[in-house]
Amino acid sequence: MTTMQFQTIIEPFRIHSVEPLRMTTREERQQAVQKAGYNLFALHSDDVIIDLLTDSGTGAMSRDQWAAVQHGDESYAGSPSWFRFLEAVQDLFPFRHVIPTHQGRAAEKILFTAIGGPGKVVPNNTHFDTTRANVEFTGAEAVDLLVTEGHDPASRHPFKGNMDVAGLEALLRAHQGAVPVVFVTVTNNSGGGQPVSLANLRAVREVCHRFGVPLFLDACRFAENAWFIREREPGQGDREVRDIVREMASLVDGMTMSAKKDGLANIGGWLAMNDDNLAARCRTLLILTEGFPTYGGLAGRDLEAIAQGLSEVVQHDYLRYRIRSTAYLGDALTRLGVPTVQPTGGHAVYIDARAMLPHIAPLQYPGQSLAVALYETGGIRSCEIGTVMFGRHPDGSEHPADNDLVRLAIPRRTYTQSHIDYVVAVCGEVAKQAADLPGYRIVDEPPALRHFTARFEPIPAR
Ligand SMILES: Cc1ncc(COP(=O)(O)O)c(C=O)c1O
Repeated sequence: MTTMQFQTIIEPFRIHSVEPLRMTTREERQQAVQKAGYNLFALHSDDVIIDLLTDSGTGAMSRDQWAAVQHGDESYAGSPSWFRFLEAVQDLFPFRHVIPTHQGRAAEKILFTAIGGPGKVVPNNTHFDTTRANVEFTGAEAVDLLVTEGHDPASRHPFKGNMDVAGLEALLRAHQGAVPVVFVTVTNNSGGGQPVSLANLRAVREVCHRFGVPLFLDACRFAENAWFIREREPGQGDREVRDIVREMASLVDGMTMSAKKDGLANIGGWLAMNDDNLAARCRTLLILTEGFPTYGGLAGRDLEAIAQGLSEVVQHDYLRYRIRSTAYLGDALTRLGVPTVQPTGGHAVYIDARAMLPHIAPLQYPGQSLAVALYETGGIRSCEIGTVMFGRHPDGSEHPADNDLVRLAIPRRTYTQSHIDYVVAVCGEVAKQAADLPGYRIVDEPPALRHFTARFEPIPAR
């Protein structure tokens, strides 16, 4: 009998070193969050018990990654660590040019500095916040083109991250010559961690090809996306994930990547492409802000950790456990009656705060209210993905976002099932108090990416 015949899918690793968690009281947490201006990004992380703020850079590295770190060669140019990194990236994504950066947004900044600018329009299935900000910073317009099912938190469509192909065609026709690149984000983080199918990528590619516009992947969670393709797309069930990833790469002209997600590393990223001309312009910008082209913003040891991480992230035992353990949390919340984006995404469970707190208007930030309550009640740090994150527009106006979600992002290989059971219990407790939770107002905000640093205060009940 193999373990596959049991229902329980266990962590395909055992624990090798541990980090202590500091237990806190509700009173301590109430003081801490008030001091932080009710912005969970401003908390000291040792005041957090279970940190689900992000899955980015927060995962546990493996024994073999730590061993690889010891091989880090810190030569300024042409280090063996760089060549190991390059080989690992090109094994999955065989682009001619790979440009290492210190994280994903640095790749975005370089690319959009090179090809963005006033009058340009950049479509994406859904821009992640830093991607949108980097497009808009150049004066270009960022347009989200997601299939209708992707906007409906209750829809159980298997590929809710798919791009609206007809919408893309209309946009390319209306803005001929003004679209420097089309982006597809896999999986669609801001839309619930939902995957994009190969069929959709092929259709998007066909349209891009017809209009002569390059197609890029925001590939942060490429392995999770490929696992969903294997599980859900007809005809894909027998394929190796690394082959699916290579097919995804073969359909596009380049990519941006944050290795803090499916690189299984704590830092790092890259920009890759086939276009020699564009790569030369990007490398010039890289040298200005990140570093020499064989290390970008990274130490040799980081390049080693990423190279090893890329060989682990496509392993089926890992991905089966990863996707199932996220679904475990989603299923438990559904059983409690907590509304979540369906079906559960790859890296996170998204609670529909607007549905859970219908008494709080979107411009009084139901997602922020829920996130603060989860922290005060159980020390869980989550992330608002809604009107706080997306509500302020470049012209200064404020509008409700499409959805008000609270993301419980699961760091890779970090928490056990009992940690997740505790999260479920805390969510259940908060659900009981939902009708009493207050709305919030912003008392201070920066001009862009306000969710990172804005300060809030609760609106007293009348
Ligand atoms: C889809 C997506 N794109 C880009 C980024 C930016 O990557 P980084 O945080 O490494 O700058 C993120 C990070 O969360 C992301 O989820």
